Parts: sequence; structure tokens; C-alpha cells
Amino acid sequence: MAPRSVPAASASGSKAAAAPPPSPRLNATERRVALEVINVEVRNCQRCGELAASRTQTVFGVGNLNPRLCFFGEAPGADEDRLGMPFVGRAGQLLDKIIEAMGLKRDDVYILNVLKCRPPNNRVPAEDEVENCRGFFERQLEVLQPEFICCLGATAAKTLLHSGFSLGKMRGRFFTVGNAQALVTYHPAYLLRNPAAKKDTWEDIQMLMRAMGLPTK
Ligand code: URA
Repeated sequence: MAPRSVPAASASGSKAAAAPPPSPRLNATERRVALEVINVEVRNCQRCGELAASRTQTVFGVGNLNPRLCFFGEAPGADEDRLGMPFVGRAGQLLDKIIEAMGLKRDDVYILNVLKCRPPNNRVPAEDEVENCRGFFERQLEVLQPEFICCLGATAAKTLLHSGFSLGKMRGRFFTVGNAQALVTYHPAYLLRNPAAKKDTWEDIQMLMRAMGLPTK
């Protein structure tokens, strides 16, 4: 079953899928096993010839297997490709600061990407690459059943929400995706290039914190 993306105010550019009933929650062992099954498929995946040929390794996802919150990024970069973990480079260090500013630890959340392989030169994922990976991240989210999903950047947001809207239009509200509430903010790599946008991301994160019942001071 795919996560359902049902923007509350669906408009042109968004495809709101009919919502089948949510899957039952799995226990801790079932989750670990279900994720490992998907991870083995990911490791063996050859669907995107260029990416499979150029990757050092696949980058599946990391973190709490019973998370309230998932961060959903775009694709591994050079550091992630080398280490096999998402968000471990400069953008990852900024994501760590965001998580810390929420009063959380990296171990409290789960972090995954749309693509499991690094696109050469960190180019934006092609549409067919996103669709080749869709079954993987949708199944990850279905196993994890987070309450909240924070989309980092336009690729993650457009992909999860099936939306053609710009990132700016998607910010500032929640979207229902299966059992989860999803929101959209700037990608940490964008924030490194455009520090002025950090205040917008902090607004988004505070909206998320309020929804999660976390103290915002
Ligand atoms: N950017 C992403 O979108 N994901 C990563 O894992 C690293 C950088």
C-alpha cells in the first residue's frame, strides 16, 4: 500500500489519491525485519543503470524504528555515498542542529531520502529515478508509520505530495499522507547557500514542534 497524499486544499498540480485503510502497526522486531527486507532489495537494485553503476553503496535510512518524526530528503551526496548513511555531510550537520533545536536527538527521528543512490555530481534526481525508488521509500514509511514527515526541499515535497507546486507554496501547512501529517521546509543544503532562509525554516520547524506538542519556549 502506498502512503496516501491528500493535501487538505488540493489544487491543480496535486493528485489526491483515494485513501485505502492504513496498514496495522508492526512491533519492533517486525519493523526491523520488514526494513531489512526492503534494504536488501535496495542494495541489489539495478533499475537506474547510471546510478547503480556510479554508486559506492546504497543509502537506505537511519534512526529510530518507532519514530514520531521522519525527515525526508532528496538523495545521497558524496559523503553519504561514501559512508552509507543519509545526511552526514555539511547539510547533515545543519539538519543535526535543527533536530537539536527541536529538543530532540538524531536517534529520536528517522532520516531517509527519495533516492537511495547518489546522482552523479549531485544533480537533481530525474523523474524516472524518483519513480524507480518510489516503492522503496513508500514501503519504508508504511513500516515506520511516523506521525509527522518533514520534507526537506522541493524534490522530497513534490515527490511525497505528488505536487507540482513550488516549495514556497507548499510551506506553512500540513498535508495528510497516510496516517502522517507532512510539512515542507527548505533543504539544509539550500540553507547553507541562502542563510537568510533559515528564519523561514525555523518558523516551519516551530509549527511542527507545536503540532508535536514540543515546547517552543
Ligand atoms: N542531501 C540529501 O537530500 N540527503 C542526504 O542524505 C544528504 C544530502
